[in-house]
Amino acid sequence: MKTPSIADFLWLKEEFQRIHQMNRQVGVADWCAHSYDFSCPSHLTYPFQWFWDSCFNAIALSHIDPKRAEAELVSLMKNQHEDGFISHVTFWQRDAFEEMVSTYAIAFRNKYLTDEMQPPLLAEAVAAVAARGRGEAFLREILPGVKRFYDWLDAVRSPYGDGLIRVVQPDETGLDHSPKWDELMEIKDEENASWFKGWNLICDKYIPFNRDPKKMFEVDYFAVADVMVNVIYIENLRVLSKLFLQIGDNESAKLLDSRASKAKASLEELCWDETDGLYYDINGKANKKIRVNTFSSLMPLLLPDLEPQRRDRLMAHLLDPKEYWATYPIPSVAMNHPTYRPDTVGGNLVWRGPTWMNSNWYLARGLIRHGRLDLARHIAAQSIELVKKSGVREYYNPSTGAGWGAPDFSWSTVLIDLVKEVI
Ligand code: GLC
Repeated sequence: MKTPSIADFLWLKEEFQRIHQMNRQVGVADWCAHSYDFSCPSHLTYPFQWFWDSCFNAIALSHIDPKRAEAELVSLMKNQHEDGFISHVTFWQRDAFEEMVSTYAIAFRNKYLTDEMQPPLLAEAVAAVAARGRGEAFLREILPGVKRFYDWLDAVRSPYGDGLIRVVQPDETGLDHSPKWDELMEIKDEENASWFKGWNLICDKYIPFNRDPKKMFEVDYFAVADVMVNVIYIENLRVLSKLFLQIGDNESAKLLDSRASKAKASLEELCWDETDGLYYDINGKANKKIRVNTFSSLMPLLLPDLEPQRRDRLMAHLLDPKEYWATYPIPSVAMNHPTYRPDTVGGNLVWRGPTWMNSNWYLARGLIRHGRLDLARHIAAQSIELVKKSGVREYYNPSTGAGWGAPDFSWSTVLIDLVKEVI
């Protein structure tokens, strides 16, 4: 197995700096009178600011340009809503891209801000930026808004008293076209058009209620506790708790930590599947398991307090060359699942097989926490190979390493953080 070197880190740093230069968006938006400074996902296909993309960008930028890393998060939070919610896309420069926006399936709160969440890794991003930037001074400025966002998740997105957060439509998980959703979206082929139809099938149900969150949950059709989203939520509550301790707010720290414990206990109770040895998303008041084997089933590896027996069963799936241990790990869908597609499909359906850098960042760091630095190093080394071979792409074929999706894709630069951790 290969190990990345300091030379790799330095090479990546230069390469990724170029990507963030290329994708940088700076300006002032008339519609809100705020200035912005962020890296869009890809200057060719995605010019706007996405929530979880920005968090990964900030973590990457904290190694490259801490000032820009801070600006990325400050921009993300400039249009936080009064209730604490942060939209998953801010259309800063929408008026210049009307035609592009008309092709999106997306739910709006207003013309420039969406009414959708994305995986909540804001606290991890804040921690990275504070650690390599202005430390406590930055924390004191940003933490009140960050806490309001996590309070919103608890108050609005955890409707069943189990502490887990729920999404009301597939794209809120960031895993838009994952085969996990095929059944609920009634998708039978791999065409973009079918996905749009499926998206409408779900989101049209919310129109009569004007997307009132309580009523959206009463529909009880798509109310999913996604394993990846909840693992990220638990991890981030813990990170945020530590950040509050750092600034001497013990009460907030305790509250956030207790939310994490509750969600963790429910994840174990409701999502673990003893027969398959995997964690599955659950849907609706009945907590029905969605039994599709994707990388998100392995995501609890990120949690250091995973029971050793369950951890070992996840590891067996991860290291099985028929499932996840590809030449370029880690595929987004198990390779022996009938829906697995290693290349781009149906125009541009995503999360149906290829390897992504952000999921590698999470899972490899989980492996380190469970004593497998050797495996994390291998994943990091193969990820570097992907960049060398195919450039900084949105996703890659796990067997051949061919690059797919958007070129010069910003969040793939989060690889630098993993490489730093393993060298
Ligand atoms: C795709 C991804 C989503 C991401 C967005 C912008 O829709 O599935 O997770 O946030 O592109 O990169």
